[in-house]
This record gives sequence, C-alpha cells and structure tokens, in this order.
Amino acid sequence: MYGATVDEIEDAAYDDKLAEFEARIARGEKIEPGDWMPDEYRRQLIRMISQHAHSEVVGMLPEGTFITSAPTLRRKLILLAKVQDEGGHGQYLYHAAETLGATREEMLEALLSGKAKYASVFNYPALSWADMGAIGMLVDGAAILNQTMLARASYGPYSRAMIRICTEENFHQRQGEDIIITLAQGTEEQKAMAQDAINRWWWPSMMMFGPHDSDSKNSEILLRWGVKTRTNDQLRQQFVNQMVPKLHKLGLSVPDPDLHYDEESGNWIHGEIDWDEFWNVIKGNGPCNAERMAARRKAHEDGQWVREALEAYAARQEAQPA
Ligand code: 3HC
Repeated sequence: MYGATVDEIEDAAYDDKLAEFEARIARGEKIEPGDWMPDEYRRQLIRMISQHAHSEVVGMLPEGTFITSAPTLRRKLILLAKVQDEGGHGQYLYHAAETLGATREEMLEALLSGKAKYASVFNYPALSWADMGAIGMLVDGAAILNQTMLARASYGPYSRAMIRICTEENFHQRQGEDIIITLAQGTEEQKAMAQDAINRWWWPSMMMFGPHDSDSKNSEILLRWGVKTRTNDQLRQQFVNQMVPKLHKLGLSVPDPDLHYDEESGNWIHGEIDWDEFWNVIKGNGPCNAERMAARRKAHEDGQWVREALEAYAARQEAQPA
C-alpha cells in the first residue's frame, strides 16, 4: 500500500470488509447488530423494517372498526386477538429497527409527518363483516408469503421477529378463510357479501408485493445482501397460484377478466395491475389515507401523557442517591 492515499487505504479496507460481509451472507450466516455492515445495508433495513412496523400498526385500523359489530362473541374475541397481534408485530419490528440505531421517535415522526410509507392496502375501507374475511384471507395471506421469505433474511433480529410473526399470521389467515368459507356456504346474500369483499380487496392485496421487479428500485441490493430471497413478482405469482383455486373451490370469482391458467408453466396468469392507482394511493390520495393518518396522530397525541410520566419517573429514578 506504499504511496497509497488515506482514501485508497480506507477504500481497500472497505473493500475487504465488504467482501467478508458478502461471504458471510453467502454462507448463510446472520448479520447481528454489533457486526460490521455497509451503511446502505443499515439504511435499507431501517427503511424496510420501520415501514413494515408502520404497516402493522396502521393495519390494525380497518379491522378495528368491526370489533364492536362482530356477529358473535366468538368472532369478536378472534378479531380482537388478531388486531392485538398486529400491534404486537409492530412493537417487535420497531425494536428490530432500533437495533440498527433508529430511534422510536424518529420512526414515528417519519410516519406521522407522511415522510415514511406503510402498506397501501390499509388505505382502503372495510365496508362489511365479509371484509374481515377478505383481509384475513388475502391481505394476511399475502403477508405470510412475504414474511415467510423474510424469516430467512440475512439480518438476525428481522429474521427472528419474522419467525414469531409468521406463527401468528397463520392464525390470522385461517380465521379470515373461516369467515369467507362460512359466508360462501351461507345464504345467497352472504355469498354475495363475500364476493363483494373479495372484489374490493383482491387488487390492493396484489399490490402488497410491490412494483414489478423491473420497477423495484430496492430489490437488487436487497437480493444481493440476502434481505429478500424472492422477488416481488415471484411472491405475487405464488400468491395468485395459491388463492385462485381456493376462491374457485368456494364458488367465488377473482375480479380479473384477464386471469387464465397456463398449462405449460402451471401458473395462473393475472391481468395488469393498475400502477397509477398504486402510486396514487402511496402518494396519499387513497380512500382512507387522511383517516388513517388522523387516527395515528390522535393515538400518538393521546399517549403523550404516558411518555411524559415515564420520562418523569426515569428522571426521578436517576436523581435518587445511588
Ligand atoms: N405499499 C406502500 N409502499 C410500497 C408498497 C406497498 N404495497 N410496495 C412498495 N412500496 C414502496 C417501497 O417502500 C419503495 O419506496 P421507498 O424506497 O420510499 O421505501 C417503493 O415503493 C419501490 O418499491 P420496491 O419494490 O423498490 O421496495 P422494496 O424492495 O422495499 O419492496 C416491499 C417493497 C415488498 C413492501 C418490501 O419493502 C417488503 O417486503 N417489506 C416488508 C414487508 C412489509 O412491509 N409488508 C407490509 C404489510 S405488513 C402486513 O401485511 C401486516 C399483516 O399482519 C396484515
């Protein structure tokens, strides 16, 4: 390294560290909070995990509206447990992001200011009890495919959070399917309710997997560094192949006139997604964006006294003589 500049020496050191980092990932090792990692790996994970956490917490809102109007006490208890689970998933994920140096205050400020994203699917309204079934079956069904993949992510805390979350997510999907099956096998009106809910939640669920791979600006580095192990389109295709036969078996249709089965590939080929709608909802112009953000801002304001009490208690503890 004689005659090399400080930058060149530092660059060489960086290259060596990057090579070892990528070798670790290639060996299937987990990267832990205290390990060396490229700044971009840290940034990507904070972005992805914090937005995942925001999605879990905002995702409580559509279903929360139906807790008081569940048709039976049993359905109320199941839905209550599910919504509580989502809040807990948010906490796991905020903690996972904190292991990377992000603070809860920064993440919540990014959400409440509109700077951070959350899953666009939660900006659609839940209009009937059947929506509880469609959300569980389709939205949680899509989430399970994505999160099962993330359970293999190279970042240890994210991967471990996903293992716990996937266990609960499976219950979420089953309870949703149970609602849809009950309605589909009920009266004509109930079956029509289920079909209406499937019609409204199908495309927003398809959008949960993100833009097409060719438009997914983050996927390349996330795949290279083992955060993602499947692409957006691969997961979406798996979702379509899984859901279409289930819906058809119940005598329900998929709101996609271009959907057809391709014998050669064994895939259900879906029609084009309305990406204008996708980006428009992400930009804040969906049916419920304002309502969802107002609810999150109010919850944060209503919790101010708790944060102040905790700070006062911590300050008093600190002031106590050792
Ligand atoms: N809603 C909102 N924004 C979306 C989106 C969606 N469905 N899909 C993609 N985006 C955003 C991305 O965040 C990115 O914007 P950013 O760079 O400003 O963050 C941009 O669109 C381009 O998308 P990319 O494909 O390049 O982004 P990613 O590679 O990060 O892929 C993702 C998007 C598939 C959502 C990925 O981030 C991911 O897997 N995240 C973790 C899982 C997650 O967040 N799931 C959300 C639902 S949680 C849930 O369903 C709870 C369940 O209990 C119901």
